[in-house]
Amino acid sequence: MSDYENGTPATTAYQSARERLQGGQYRWVVTGVAGFIGSNLLQSLLELGQRVVGVDNFLTGYRHNLDQVRELVGPVAWRCFELIEGDVRDLAVCRQACDRADYLLHQAALGSVGRSLADPLLCNDINITGQLNILDAARHAGVKRVVYAASSASYGDHPGLPKVEQHIGSALSPYALTKYVNELYAGVYARCYGLETIGLRYFNVFGPRQDAAGAYAAVIPQWVAAMIGKRQLIINGDGESSRDFCYVANAVQANLLAALTDNRAAVNQVYNVALNARTSLNELYLLLHELLVERHAHLRDYQPQYAPFRAGDVRHSQADITKAASLLGYAPTHDLRRGLRQALRWYEQNLAA
Ligand SMILES: NC(=O)c1ccc[n+]([C@@H]2O[C@H](COP(=O)([O-])OP(=O)(O)OC[C@H]3O[C@@H](n4cnc5c(N)ncnc54)[C@H](O)[C@@H]3O)[C@@H](O)[C@H]2O)c1
Repeated sequence: MSDYENGTPATTAYQSARERLQGGQYRWVVTGVAGFIGSNLLQSLLELGQRVVGVDNFLTGYRHNLDQVRELVGPVAWRCFELIEGDVRDLAVCRQACDRADYLLHQAALGSVGRSLADPLLCNDINITGQLNILDAARHAGVKRVVYAASSASYGDHPGLPKVEQHIGSALSPYALTKYVNELYAGVYARCYGLETIGLRYFNVFGPRQDAAGAYAAVIPQWVAAMIGKRQLIINGDGESSRDFCYVANAVQANLLAALTDNRAAVNQVYNVALNARTSLNELYLLLHELLVERHAHLRDYQPQYAPFRAGDVRHSQADITKAASLLGYAPTHDLRRGLRQALRWYEQNLAA
């Protein structure tokens, strides 16, 4: 049995962060709250008795994500949530959200390499101007700390593996550039205005409520939807490209640790968030097949189809998580298999709907 399945022995820092929240209520802002990661943050915070102000313009997020969180947390916790339907490009919206806030988790973005290649100006507006508004509103409101979604895309064409935070290459897409600019702006706000920030470079996060629809869907929901829906699954490239797939519970953990850490050395830093495990697309396909085939008989004779590589995609990705482990006490609770089991349960229940 792996450490991941053997209870959660290595979650001391996370356990104390959760206990701290259970002992007192703070006011959190979650931008992109109707999206995949944002709605998972919302759920965890409400389950921990916190008060949350969410911001979303529903560009790629969904009301049904919020409806699902409401059902999961129940009416009492749900009363601690307030939604501001608005755009982070609107400074007034950001100021309204930050009013009396303790912590801010900034997730709103145009979060896809493909979309950024199709519309670089929109990507720049949302990801850079939007984050700048958030940083500025947060500093004026005296927010204790801003934790923001950075990205493994910032490693660009740097060949090193696993990726360590201080070595990045040239950006391979407008999206990657905007995510790196987010880090630069956060650094400037820390140095010039004393705002506390922490950036989390997520690596291929997956889990419940990740959108399976559309041309820009991430690989796991796209493949699962194809496999369950008896459609053709496409592997871009030869299948030997690899990723460090990270279940969303690990990303939630990183956010809470980053927001609450008392370690001064941990603040105004950027961290990799994943597992330090590399899985090729071919291996991912085989694992999904193994986990799904028992309940979906049509998959016994199923074969993926191979297509050309996609523009802007990096070949290999793997996170060194030593920095997050040592400074934040980050200890992922879900490896790929355990995360996939939970995600698949959700997709099997929700895809038809
Ligand atoms: N999912 C991943 O694997 C991954 C990897 C690296 C980084 N990230 C980053 O994590 C964050 C969350 O990603 P996600 O996967 O949950 O994506 P998502 O698209 O599900 O969520 C983004 C949310 O932001 C909202 N939004 C977009 N533009 C907005 C605007 N102008 N004003 C207000 N709300 C707006 C969308 O409607 C959506 O609800 C993003 O910043 C993304 O770049 C995600």
